[in-house]
Amino acid sequence: MKSFSIKDLLQESPLGEKVEVNGWVKTFRSNRFIALNDGSTLRNIQCVVDFEQFDEQLLKQINTGAALKTSGTLVESQGRGQDVEIQVEDIFVHGTAHPEEYPIQPKKHSLEFLREKAHLRVRTNTFSAVMRVRSALAFAIHSYFQQHGFYYMHTPIITGSDAEGAGEMFRVTTMDPENPPKDEKGHIDYSKDFFGKETNLTVSGQLEAETYAMGLGKVYTFGPTFRAENSNTSRHLAEFWMIEPEMAFYELKENMDLAEDFVKWITRYVLDNCTEDLQFLEKRLLDEEKSKPQHQRSEMPLVEKLQFVVNNEFKRITYTEAIDILKNSKPNKKKKFEYPIEEWGADLQSEHERFLVEKYFKSPVILYDYPAKIKAFYMRLNDDEKTVRAMDVLFPGIGEIIGGSQREERLEVLQQKIKEFNIDEKELWWYLDLRRFGTAVHSGFGLGFERMVQFVTGMGNIRDVIPYPRTPQNAEF
Ligand code: 4AD
Ligand code: MG
Repeated sequence: MKSFSIKDLLQESPLGEKVEVNGWVKTFRSNRFIALNDGSTLRNIQCVVDFEQFDEQLLKQINTGAALKTSGTLVESQGRGQDVEIQVEDIFVHGTAHPEEYPIQPKKHSLEFLREKAHLRVRTNTFSAVMRVRSALAFAIHSYFQQHGFYYMHTPIITGSDAEGAGEMFRVTTMDPENPPKDEKGHIDYSKDFFGKETNLTVSGQLEAETYAMGLGKVYTFGPTFRAENSNTSRHLAEFWMIEPEMAFYELKENMDLAEDFVKWITRYVLDNCTEDLQFLEKRLLDEEKSKPQHQRSEMPLVEKLQFVVNNEFKRITYTEAIDILKNSKPNKKKKFEYPIEEWGADLQSEHERFLVEKYFKSPVILYDYPAKIKAFYMRLNDDEKTVRAMDVLFPGIGEIIGGSQREERLEVLQQKIKEFNIDEKELWWYLDLRRFGTAVHSGFGLGFERMVQFVTGMGNIRDVIPYPRTPQNAEF
């Protein structure tokens, strides 16, 4: 007898043969029909039990959530909703789930409720679909880079550098917090720490990726990233995964071309390989939309939205052009933004980004050439000496999904910038070395993995696209 995953069983459909499957009970109807799911696919296999042939005590153990092994003959199904079913001859109960205690019952649970049950929520259709798509997307990302001449590199998780200069870092120390070693002035003496200096969890692998690009040519990272920002939004996590390609000899234009080609390619991969899960997620969204007021409903169903992104050019405009549009726009009934754009140089809020993408252009937008003052120190200064070669890719429903730039490759200009940003040059001696030895034009960007998963699954809250979200007050699991 052959053991199958449910996906393979439905695919191969060996009618008349004896088969064996393992899985968790979704439902058990009329003491006769078990819907079994093993996570390999959204679909269940129906296992038909002739209750007269089985011990009553055994049948009592078959409740929603129980883990079973069943075997029997695969036959065509007479019932509606499935093509084949197993006529069960044998049942082995791996483990029971008490119906009054098991929280994931066959009814619609709210996403908020399921967040409290993060260890069990993957047994629901919604979360299993999202997590399969997440896995496929990760594979697509590696495939894209591996097929395009990039090398995968691992950057340190514990580091002494603050790549974004944003100061939103988790400290890492082996010191006793009650009694840290102090210097003569009474300051904490990090030189006595395990690492011999103050260290933190990485906020970005970019600076280290730059060092490898300037030797391997084209590299990418794909790793965990930590930001101690206390922002309780549906787009921010304290621990998220970021993909950061970095390319020697690329200017900003080529960086934009790569970013656009890359996100289209991985979106197409998901469209081609996750059809069943996407259709389910689309239907889920449409049901959810029905309960919303008309003006909040999305204009396009999920699959159509993904196809739109794959098939249309992203709109590219400079920050300065965006400011002109925003100054002259009436975004809503009140005809103004919550944070009106007063002048050139202001940072854009998400309401501005979403207006450009969702109302004005109705397309993904790449904004570039931002004011130097609102972007990180490492970005290449333009000849106007006011703007830098930065780019942000903005997506419908998400806002910023990618941030990137051409990097400052000129030693003196970079040193000047470091001074202006009040960063200690000594901390970045190795980074400056790149500009001393064989410096060259180079560029890169960072894609927020969870924001990309949100986009392709249509999930509204970032907490629902990562197995164990780390947000303020949430590290139980
Ligand atoms: O724009 P960010 O901060 O850029 C960087 O870190 C650069 N070093 C990237 C580079 O050029 N190599 O972050 C990049 C992306 C954002 O566009 C967003 O998608 C995501 O990372 N991101 C977050 N995702 C979830 N939670 C957070 N707290 C995030 N912060 C940034
Ligand atoms: Mg950014």
